[in-house]
Amino acid sequence: MNKVILLKNRPEGKPSLKDFEFTEEEKPQPKDGEILLKTKYVSVDPYLRGRMRDEKSYIAPFEVGKPLESGIIAEVVESKNKNFNKGEYVNGMLPWKQFQTSNGTGLNKVDGEKAPLKAYLGILGLTGITAYLGLKKIGKPEKGETLLVSAAAGAVGSIVGQIGKIKGCHVVGIAGSEEKIDRIQEKFGFDAAINYKTTSNMKKAIAEACPDGVDVYFDNVGGEILDAALANMNKYSRVINCGAISLYNEIKTPTGPRVESTLIKNSILMQGFTVRDFVKDFGPAQRRLAQWMEEDKLNYLETVVEGFENIPQAFIDLFEGKNKGKMIVVV
Ligand SMILES: NC(=O)c1ccc[n+]([C@@H]2O[C@H](COP(=O)([O-])OP(=O)(O)OC[C@H]3O[C@@H](n4cnc5c(N)ncnc54)[C@H](OP(=O)(O)O)[C@@H]3O)[C@@H](O)[C@H]2O)c1
Repeated sequence: MNKVILLKNRPEGKPSLKDFEFTEEEKPQPKDGEILLKTKYVSVDPYLRGRMRDEKSYIAPFEVGKPLESGIIAEVVESKNKNFNKGEYVNGMLPWKQFQTSNGTGLNKVDGEKAPLKAYLGILGLTGITAYLGLKKIGKPEKGETLLVSAAAGAVGSIVGQIGKIKGCHVVGIAGSEEKIDRIQEKFGFDAAINYKTTSNMKKAIAEACPDGVDVYFDNVGGEILDAALANMNKYSRVINCGAISLYNEIKTPTGPRVESTLIKNSILMQGFTVRDFVKDFGPAQRRLAQWMEEDKLNYLETVVEGFENIPQAFIDLFEGKNKGKMIVVV
C-alpha cells in the first residue's frame, strides 16, 4: 500500500496535526510513457500555510480531502518513459505520497554527484534562488551598505546574510533564539544579530546594531518587526517583502502603522515578490550559488526530520522556529 497525506480541514490560526489526514491507497503502476517515483526528500515551507486558505493567491489553494504538495526529490524506481532511467533522481512540485506515477511534466533531473540531493530543495533550489534574486533584483545592495535580514537563521535568511557579506555589506540578522543569533554570527559571518524574542524595543535594538541606518531590509516575517525596521530605513533604502510568516496564522490581519509618510520622507522602495516572477533568471542564479559554494563563500544549514509520517509536524514546527536553515523531511 501507498501512504498519502491529505488536507483534512482548513486550519483556523496555527495549523495542528488534526488538520491532516493520513491515508493509504493502492501503490500505483506506471503506464506506457510514465515513471514510478519513490519520494526521498520533502521540502516543508511557510508559504504552504497560505495554500491551506480558500482564497485567491499567486498559486491555487489546496483542496480539502486531496493530498498536499511541495517540492520533492524522488527516485525513479521504474521507467516506461524514454526520457527517464531507473535510478535517476528528479525534483518537482509533487503530492505528499510515498510513491506516485508521472509522465515527467514539470520534473527536473538532479545529479547527486554534483551536490547532495537535499541541496536542490535548499541552497540550490527555490530557497537559494529566492534569497539571491530577491536581494539582487530588488535590494541591489552596494558595498559598505547595511543589510538587515529577518528570520536570519532560516533557509532563505541565512543565505541572504551570507550574500550580503560577499557583497561587502554590514549585515545584521534578526532571529528567535540565542543559539540562532550565535550561529549566524559564527558560522555565517553576520556582523551583529538581535534576538527578537528577548528584545523589548526592536526599533532601538535595530538602531544600535545598524549605527549608519538600514539601506536594505530583506523581510521574511512582516508584522511588528517590519514596523521596527521601517523606522530605521535610510534615504533611498529598499525593503524586500519576501515573506510575512508572523501573519500567516492570523485569523484577522492586525493593522500596523500607516507606512506612506515614512516611505515618502525617505524615498524608500518597498516591493513584494514571488520567486517565480524571476523564472528566466533561475539558471544563472543557481550557477552563481553553486560557484560560491565551490569557492567556500556560501555555507548552509539544514534541519532534517526523518519519516514520511512526520511531514505535517515538520511543517508546523516552522512556526515555532524549530528549524535552523532549511527544514527537510527524509523519507
Ligand atoms: N517570496 C517568495 O517567493 C518566497 C520564497 C520562499 C520563502 N518565502 C518566505 O520567506 C520566509 C522564510 O522562508 P523559509 O523557507 O526560509 O523559512 P525559514 O526561515 O527556514 O523558517 C521559518 C522561520 O520563521 C521564523 N518565524 C516563525 N514564526 C515567526 C514569527 N511569528 N515572527 C518572526 N519570525 C517567525 C522562525 O525562526 P525564528 O526562530 O527566528 O523565529 C522559523 O524558523 C517565509 O515568510 C516564506 O513564506 C518567500
